[in-house]
Amino acid sequence: MKMIDFGKDIKVFPVALGAMNFGTTTSKEDAFKVLDAYVDMGGNFVDTSNNYAHWAGVGDESEKTLGEWFASRKNRDKIVLATKVGFDRKGVGAGLKKEQIEYWIDESLKNLKTDYVDIYYAHTDDKNTSLEETMTAFDSLVKKGKVRILGGSNYDTWKFAEANFIAKEKELTPYTVMQQRFTYLYTKAEVAPKYEFNETVNRERLRYLKAKNIPLVAYSSLAKGGYEKTERLPADTVIDGRLDVLKNMAKEKGVCASAMAVAWMCNLSSIGYTDVIPLFGSSSVHHFTDNLKGAFIELTQEEMEILTKA
Ligand SMILES: NC(=O)c1ccc[n+]([C@@H]2O[C@H](COP(=O)([O-])OP(=O)(O)OC[C@H]3O[C@@H](n4cnc5c(N)ncnc54)[C@H](OP(=O)(O)O)[C@@H]3O)[C@@H](O)[C@H]2O)c1
Repeated sequence: MKMIDFGKDIKVFPVALGAMNFGTTTSKEDAFKVLDAYVDMGGNFVDTSNNYAHWAGVGDESEKTLGEWFASRKNRDKIVLATKVGFDRKGVGAGLKKEQIEYWIDESLKNLKTDYVDIYYAHTDDKNTSLEETMTAFDSLVKKGKVRILGGSNYDTWKFAEANFIAKEKELTPYTVMQQRFTYLYTKAEVAPKYEFNETVNRERLRYLKAKNIPLVAYSSLAKGGYEKTERLPADTVIDGRLDVLKNMAKEKGVCASAMAVAWMCNLSSIGYTDVIPLFGSSSVHHFTDNLKGAFIELTQEEMEILTKA
């Protein structure tokens, strides 16, 4: 399996495991089963946040579940661990001010039972704090060894670029990974997503990432389970012949449609796109391992063209 190089000796499996619901709607026992299954299939890239999943609990459950898993499996050094700061917990704590970043990294490290995270993301833009303050605070975490590399999530492309422009000017650590909503199906550009930050990656953003050699970690990459159950597709999804093309190829390959969407994302770099790493979670090992099969499918140029141009 070709691992993807994020720099600083960080090499990730081409699919990331989302731990968002672990410890709340997914029990600790089921979470451990999914995590173990992922590692058994070669996975090493786990994603969480300091506020998962506050809408179903307090907001520290996901990180705490991962901390317990690392302690039980003694495998922290084998995993590329990403967490985030910047969103609220039940309306409280949102922001990327220096004191917030310094406070939350220590909370995350405590919950995760570790002394460093590999990737620390700004979870969303903070319009009330200067980028210079945010980037300086993040950079100091890198210098202290609490964080290895930085990522940005849910930024407008221009704002992400501006953050990196400031980082370059001030000789600070830039964002070298982007996390944004992306999947095989298009969303209707003229329909506002449910939340303002939740924009799907469009062609312009893909061109930016390619030009800057920044990998894209694609969240909601299974469209909330909508490839198997169309009624679960987000309301702004375009449902047209593209879905049939995906489903037909999935049938030919003997995999589920979600796995086919995963395969398409994992193969995008073979046709000139930046590296795209689909990120998804599951409450069940069965769904998860079925979907993960997509990471192992090598698509020909012709197959990629059929899927991409549909
Ligand atoms: N940066 C951000 O702002 C942001 C936002 C959202 C999420 N995330 C990250 O991305 C990860 C994934 O997010 P997401 O929940 O939006 O993911 P998603 O990949 O769009 O959807 C996952 C859902 O798909 C369902 N599913 C998968 N295979 C299925 C199948 N064969 N049949 C029926 N349902 C199926 C799963 O249900 P089952 O549980 O039943 O398998 C699960 O509920 C999160 O864990 C988090 O780490 C980041």
